[in-house]
Amino acid sequence: MILGATGSIGTQTLDVVRRLGPGRAQIVALSARQNVALLVSQAREFGAAYVAVTDAAWGPHLEATLAGSGVIAGWGDDPLTRLASLPDADTVVVAVAGAAGLAATLAACRSGKRVCIATKEVLVAAGALVMKTAHENGAEILPIDSEHSAIFQCIQGCAPGDIARLHLTASGGPFRTWTRDQIEAATPADALKHPTWTMGGKITIDSATLMNKGLEVIEAHWLFGVPLESIGVVVHPQSVVHSFVEMRDGALLAQLGLPDMRLPIQIALTHPDKQDTDLPRLKPSEIGSLTFEEPDEDRFPALGLARRAGMAGGVAPAVLNAANEAAVGGFLEGRTDFGGICRLVAAALDAHGDDSDGKTLEAILAADKKARAFVTQRIETA
Ligand SMILES: NC(=O)c1ccc[n+]([C@@H]2O[C@H](COP(=O)([O-])OP(=O)(O)OC[C@H]3O[C@@H](n4cnc5c(N)ncnc54)[C@H](OP(=O)(O)O)[C@@H]3O)[C@@H](O)[C@H]2O)c1
Repeated sequence: MILGATGSIGTQTLDVVRRLGPGRAQIVALSARQNVALLVSQAREFGAAYVAVTDAAWGPHLEATLAGSGVIAGWGDDPLTRLASLPDADTVVVAVAGAAGLAATLAACRSGKRVCIATKEVLVAAGALVMKTAHENGAEILPIDSEHSAIFQCIQGCAPGDIARLHLTASGGPFRTWTRDQIEAATPADALKHPTWTMGGKITIDSATLMNKGLEVIEAHWLFGVPLESIGVVVHPQSVVHSFVEMRDGALLAQLGLPDMRLPIQIALTHPDKQDTDLPRLKPSEIGSLTFEEPDEDRFPALGLARRAGMAGGVAPAVLNAANEAAVGGFLEGRTDFGGICRLVAAALDAHGDDSDGKTLEAILAADKKARAFVTQRIETA
């Protein structure tokens, strides 16, 4: 099952399934927000029994398009949670954009499925709750994010105490060499030109602010149980080394590959097996030079904001994430400037004043809602 099937990760997951060939994976259910045309064509190609849209306005169109096909269409009250609870599927790929995938991720965990997570926002907002729910119900959480997939591959067979540090690599985004003033004035068109990866709009903007890497630090903390202070970031513009694991004896392990999400997706889907694939391969003789540098946290304050929220704990990471989602939305709609994204997130963190421990879904959703309202109101009154 793929939640967010019509997006960048969703369509690449279907390409992996297509390449794995018949009999290797059966698609039971697919979801989108509103892209009915693509969703229906995917359902037809892969024989999905269920499809759903989260934007209820598109529900009747979905149902009409599928009339007589036997495919069951869903919308209305939390259709993703209903899909994620279906007993027919054993694996759920969570690839929706943003924390909207949270309740469904928890439902997949409660039904003991393999949960392949691309949607880092879910782990940022509710990492403790998701990991606890997975643990209590025997669900398996596997990363799709390339950095976390790299770490996951490097640590197979290691005892948790063997890991000293994680070093997440970051491309540096399109503004790596820009001055602070240039970055402040960047347009959506500038920010959407990622130098190495082709991805959905929200994550591409997060890559330009480096918030994506800040979110990934928190994601890595929950996935691998490594303290936040032991997770570093190193800028690596070639996007060939997908992350490093530093072992207690000083050995540095890394996984290398092309910037192509289909390999980490396949690894999550087929784990612990390895399958042949005809995906493009990285040839060692063609790698060329690889460079690494410290991130500049003055020009890219998002990294520090994410660390601050992660260290504060409770609902602070949920506030960080929700404020960022709202601010990025405002930027893409031309209602705030690029520099405003981090200023809005910082203001939301300053203002939230919520000392809830963030262990319940209700507390997380309340903090998320308040932070979005705060940012929206700031944008409207600016
Ligand atoms: N793209 C990458 O290479 C990449 C790499 C690593 C991690 N990730 C993570 O994977 C997640 C998905 O990224 P993406 O780049 O694939 O995003 P995307 O291309 O924007 O696709 C998002 C998918 O989620 C659906 N969707 C959007 N808003 C939704 C909502 N509020 N509720 C339910 N469904 C919604 C979209 O449906 P419609 O098409 O109908 O709008 C689409 O199917 C993000 O968390 C991102 O950080 C992405």
